[in-house]
Amino acid sequence: MSDSPVTSPDSDLHDVPVPRHVAVIMDGNGRWAREQALPRQEGHRAGMEAVREVIHGAVEAGVEILTLFAFSTENWFRPEEEILSLMALLRLYADQEKDELRDRSIRVRVLGDLTPMAEPVRDAIRRIEDATRDCDRLLVNLMISYSGRAELVRAVRALAERVQRGELELDAIEESDVDAVMDTRGLPDPDLLIRTSGEFRISNFMLWQLAYTELHFTPVLWPDFTREHLFEAVREFQRRERRFGRVPSATS
Ligand code: IPE
Ligand code: IPE
Ligand code: MG
Repeated sequence: MSDSPVTSPDSDLHDVPVPRHVAVIMDGNGRWAREQALPRQEGHRAGMEAVREVIHGAVEAGVEILTLFAFSTENWFRPEEEILSLMALLRLYADQEKDELRDRSIRVRVLGDLTPMAEPVRDAIRRIEDATRDCDRLLVNLMISYSGRAELVRAVRALAERVQRGELELDAIEESDVDAVMDTRGLPDPDLLIRTSGEFRISNFMLWQLAYTELHFTPVLWPDFTREHLFEAVREFQRRERRFGRVPSATS
């Protein structure tokens, strides 16, 4: 249409399909704090602002699902002081953001093993999930107390239980049965994974779901990550050719 805003900074983003599902390993809060001569928890606080920013960016870009790795199973082995400040921030985030997220029709779910968490933190998680349950503009999965292997162990147990109860034949187990017992059941796999802070590793994140995900590594520390960085990752994704083990479509 001639009157559409062609000068929008991300107008070219929508010329090619955007990734439906973007996952992010939000890393580098501690190094960001160290660079500013601040305590680590200030890095996590700044990281919370970046979460707000990337959620807005995802809505602008037209992403349907945003999965954010916020705290791993292994992160429980950090010093108690850091864990307590992270949990306090999570509680604060949930209570501060839930009304605005609901008003903007953004649904938040928390995936992971919540059993080691203190009751007030779990209550805050329940409140944000309840407040945003019917929202459908963007789904945000906050992965907390999550690791890919721990999720797979939960999945193996769930399948074994079904076999034990006689509901499932061992020989009949298929990929779709595994999908159905993962924390992410019902969701498409991530199309794009972004890891910040210049580390080139997966750190036990979504080991099952990332099988054919496009990977984007950036040196930007998480608190410095803006929606422009997200748009750049999306643009790079749009230039990639996904083959899923087959031959390129032009030569098939
Ligand atoms: C990511 O930042 C946030 C969490 C893992 C909770 P880090 O805290 O890992 O920051 P760095 O990697 O030490 O810089
Ligand atoms: C991965 O970051 C986990 C999250 C971002 C929540 P880590 O900082 O825990 O990972 P490693 O230790 O660098 O692999
Ligand atoms: Mg780190």
